[in-house]
Amino acid sequence: MKILILNGSPRPNGHTAQMLSAFRDGAGSAGHEIRQIDVCRKNIRGCLGCEYCHTKGGGQCIQKDDMQEVYPLLHAADMLVLASPIYYHNLSGQLKCTIDRFYASGFPEDLTNLKKIAMFLSSGDPDMYDGALFSLHGDFEDFLGLEIAGVFTHHGAAPVSDERLQEIQSFAQSLR
Ligand SMILES: Cc1cc2nc3c(=O)[nH]c(=O)nc-3n(C[C@H](O)[C@H](O)[C@H](O)COP(=O)(O)O)c2cc1C
Repeated sequence: MKILILNGSPRPNGHTAQMLSAFRDGAGSAGHEIRQIDVCRKNIRGCLGCEYCHTKGGGQCIQKDDMQEVYPLLHAADMLVLASPIYYHNLSGQLKCTIDRFYASGFPEDLTNLKKIAMFLSSGDPDMYDGALFSLHGDFEDFLGLEIAGVFTHHGAAPVSDERLQEIQSFAQSLR
């Protein structure tokens, strides 16, 4: 499978990064083709809601920024991985801006390859995931019709436990 990871954490060695490293190890060893975009290192502006993409733009966004790198990967991907710290009860703003820009991809007609999604979430406190999960179910499962392959969380300041990292690696290895 072609797997596109959108990493919404700005912290290169943070908890989200730890979980993604385990995921890439497992998915790589299973032969999947993985691309990761660290959206916090990119210039991706928020959607303007101008509807250019759905009118004379013919599916192209009027804004020419680093989303141009994401669009072809999104169209080619069989599986999407959304990974983010929880910021004020939701995905990070950088990842939210990236998701909002999916609008130009003609949801859901144009994303014919995309079949599965997984989510990795990191928070300070436990049970902080309702906002992110609302989007996962509402936008990606119900609207786009994706199969939720897995959701993995970590909370607290300690590093992600070896047990959780092993669980993530095994999950990634089992993906078909
Ligand atoms: C701007 C900001 C907002 C945050 N909001 C929340 C929150 O609403 N709930 C929570 O449990 N943790 C919150 N946190 C803590 C982060 O979610 C937590 O430190 C997380 O593990 C960071 O993930 P990372 O290491 O992958 O970047 C917030 C942190 C920041 C910087």
